[in-house]
Amino acid sequence: MAKLRARIRPVVSAMAILVLTVVAGPISAQQPTSVDPTADAVNEQQLLQQLHRVQGLGSIPDTKSYVIEQPMGREWRRFHEVWLHWIGAVAVLGMLALLTIFYLARGMVRIESGRSGINIVRFSAFERFVHWMTATCFIILALSGLNITFGKSVLLPVMGPSAFSAWSLAAKYAHNFLSFPFVLGVILIFFMWLGGNIPNKVDVAWFKRGGGIIGHDQPPAYRFNGGQKGVYLIVVVGGTAVAISGYLLMFPFYGTTIAGMQLAQVVHGVVAVLFIAAMLAHIYIGTIGMEGAFEAMGKGTVDRKWAEEHHSLWLAEEKARIGPGAMQQQPSATAAE
Ligand code: HEM
Repeated sequence: MAKLRARIRPVVSAMAILVLTVVAGPISAQQPTSVDPTADAVNEQQLLQQLHRVQGLGSIPDTKSYVIEQPMGREWRRFHEVWLHWIGAVAVLGMLALLTIFYLARGMVRIESGRSGINIVRFSAFERFVHWMTATCFIILALSGLNITFGKSVLLPVMGPSAFSAWSLAAKYAHNFLSFPFVLGVILIFFMWLGGNIPNKVDVAWFKRGGGIIGHDQPPAYRFNGGQKGVYLIVVVGGTAVAISGYLLMFPFYGTTIAGMQLAQVVHGVVAVLFIAAMLAHIYIGTIGMEGAFEAMGKGTVDRKWAEEHHSLWLAEEKARIGPGAMQQQPSATAAE
């Protein structure tokens, strides 16, 4: 009996498959090829595939709440929870690693001919005020912004929930309110230093000769060299991009849809982390990377020898403008170490 049952089983299975194929074939062929959203019963999966969202009707004025399913939200969440973390970590930690290696290999760029003791005014008090106001806001915006991206995974386990929420609340207020002086700073920087930041042939030659940073060459430059013009461009373009995307996020759905909000967040997050990485390089050159650079923005003056080595064309212009005798003899400034 058992033998008979074993023989019959494959035959019965094969027949069942055959019957299912014959019956199911016409049924699937009858499935509509296009979706009629007003039909009594709609195939939800098909609706989602063709319209990329499932939307119903509602009675409250906020029509956004009518959206029931929107798979793009899942893609956005994946970007925010996974990709932005990778982009941010690679950009920021990668830049820190590169700068460390560069410092170990090259060391500080010294004033090779030694200090002269004669100081030249490089930045006015107003220029320095604008620079430090923008830089201070930038650093706080960067730290409070990175807290939004990484805080939950990096700080929350260390600080615990109540300290982390108190810090995050303060950081969020700081991020919102300091955006205003930051944007003012970017606008002032744009107009204040536009004249000195128009690219020219000297910059091309400056880059070709390694900018005086790679190796020990001292290519000529006007008030701002090719590298500084790059920093200016990053600040103006990056500052504008984070400002526009940031205010779209701060004032949700004013002229934006859900997709617009997601795009603003992607632009804001990506530009912000790249901006932070670029500013780390700027901070490096302005401090431990180059002797005599910090005092330009600290006290507003630089040693004449520093100007000769790094901005010879600017020094010639200054001499012609104020006369060589007008350059003050002052005690030499200390190195920015
Ligand atoms: C200029 C004006 C700026 C405005 C109006 C602004 C506004 C905002 C807003 C509203 C958010 C979303 C906060 C939330 O989800 O609760 C945000 C996130 C963020 N901001 Fe800004 N921000 C500005 C500048 C900056 C700057 C200069 C940086 C970096 C230096 C920065 C870095 C970030 C980062 C990393 C995030 C988190 C991105 C994420 O994980 O979603 N922001 N910003």
